[in-house]
Amino acid sequence: MRLQTQLTLAFTTLLFITMSILAVTIHSLLLDVLIQNERNQLQEKGKIIVQLYYSDFAPAGFGQWLTDEGLYMFIYDREREQIRYHQDSLDPELIKYWVKTYDLAQQEQPLWYDGETYYVVSIIRIYPNIVNQDLVLFTPLDDLQEVQQSFFNQLIIVFLVGILVIIILTHYFTHRMVTPLTQLKYQLKKVEKRQFDDIKRVKATGEIKEVEESVIEMARELQRYMKSQQQFLQNASHELKTPLMTIQGYAEGIRDGIFEAEESDQGLEIMVAEISRLKKIINEMILLAKLDSDENIYQVHSLYISELIQSTVDRALPMATDQQIALFHTVKQDAVIKIDQEKMLRAMMNIVTNAIRHAKTKVYIEVTQESGRLYITIDDDGEGIDDALMPHLFERFIKGKGGETGLGLAISRAIVERSNGVIRVDRSPMGGARFTIVLKI
Ligand SMILES: Nc1ncnc2c1ncn2[C@@H]1O[C@H](COP(=O)(O)OP(=O)(O)OP(=O)(O)O)[C@@H](O)[C@H]1O
Ligand SMILES: [Mg+2]
Repeated sequence: MRLQTQLTLAFTTLLFITMSILAVTIHSLLLDVLIQNERNQLQEKGKIIVQLYYSDFAPAGFGQWLTDEGLYMFIYDREREQIRYHQDSLDPELIKYWVKTYDLAQQEQPLWYDGETYYVVSIIRIYPNIVNQDLVLFTPLDDLQEVQQSFFNQLIIVFLVGILVIIILTHYFTHRMVTPLTQLKYQLKKVEKRQFDDIKRVKATGEIKEVEESVIEMARELQRYMKSQQQFLQNASHELKTPLMTIQGYAEGIRDGIFEAEESDQGLEIMVAEISRLKKIINEMILLAKLDSDENIYQVHSLYISELIQSTVDRALPMATDQQIALFHTVKQDAVIKIDQEKMLRAMMNIVTNAIRHAKTKVYIEVTQESGRLYITIDDDGEGIDDALMPHLFERFIKGKGGETGLGLAISRAIVERSNGVIRVDRSPMGGARFTIVLKI
């Protein structure tokens, strides 16, 4: 069932239940109120009747007036237990029966019943200090029930009109609410079909707006991801094809006896070098894939940051010495971090060996702390990184001048991100590049 129909139905059902409860309550209360009101009126009328009855001035047609008003009366002498007066239309036997059944001393009388009809009764004490007589005035309940029914009918009409108006309003509001969702559904279909360029923004407010923004962001991210995957595939096949073609060329040349003895030895040397390059690329690709998907590959242990820096320096020192680069390091404040030592060492080594390779005279590693975060910076005084390369530096197979496979920094980023850290690149005050790793302590 459509969401709009569901919402309208839910609101209508709720409204219907509320209105029904209200109607039942009003219906039962209404009769009570009408009876009470009638009793009060009977009291008022009764007082006038008493005055008229005991004044010598009893108007002609009095009995007729009573009948026209739907009123009945009799006067009862409590002391003598006698009926002093009753309307002609009233059966004295019935009056006797009533007097026996109901307690006339009670101020508030229940409904009296004659076997057919119920009556609302009021008892008016006639000059209580002088005579012990009561005027019993009553009127049939049927009249009141008619009033109740007609009032209730009007109420039902008002309720029905109200329900209709509310249903229309509900329909209108749910339509306004659901339309952006429907439009969003169409945009999601486009994401599914990968028609990213056709995706349009949907006008919405509140939570739906937030969902819309998330959907758009998700589509953009997906598009970026797919583009980078495509790029990765192209780069990977290129990187794998080049050494393979070199190997194939030399292998065929040696097989066909094209190369002389010395040339063939050289060819074999090149083949071995290309094969180890291929092995390196494949190993790095496998590591990247594992870092992306294998949960168990990352084993976390606690260790001091100074230990990690010392291991990096120990490993990088031979290369630095070889290239006559001075390698400095300072840990301003030591701290314990939770990382996979071996992986993080690998990430650091990628950055530090890059820095040594590109530096002119020196590389500087520094560790600082600020507001619960650890900052590891690696600076060099080399030529720095091209502005055009900067935004893509951590992508796979992206390399610049003097680059090798272009996977090192992609691996470094994957490792740092698995350690819940962030890696970024800037210009160094020393002239070259500055890499910063930010880790939570
Ligand atoms: N400190 C640096 N100074 C200047 N350029 C750098 C520096 N570090 C990295 N680069 C540039 O960034 C590119 C990518 O580096 P990355 O480490 O990802 O790949 P690589 O060093 O070429 O190959 P490998 O996969 O063997 O590490 C390098 O090719 C290089 O051009
Ligand atoms: Mg590298």
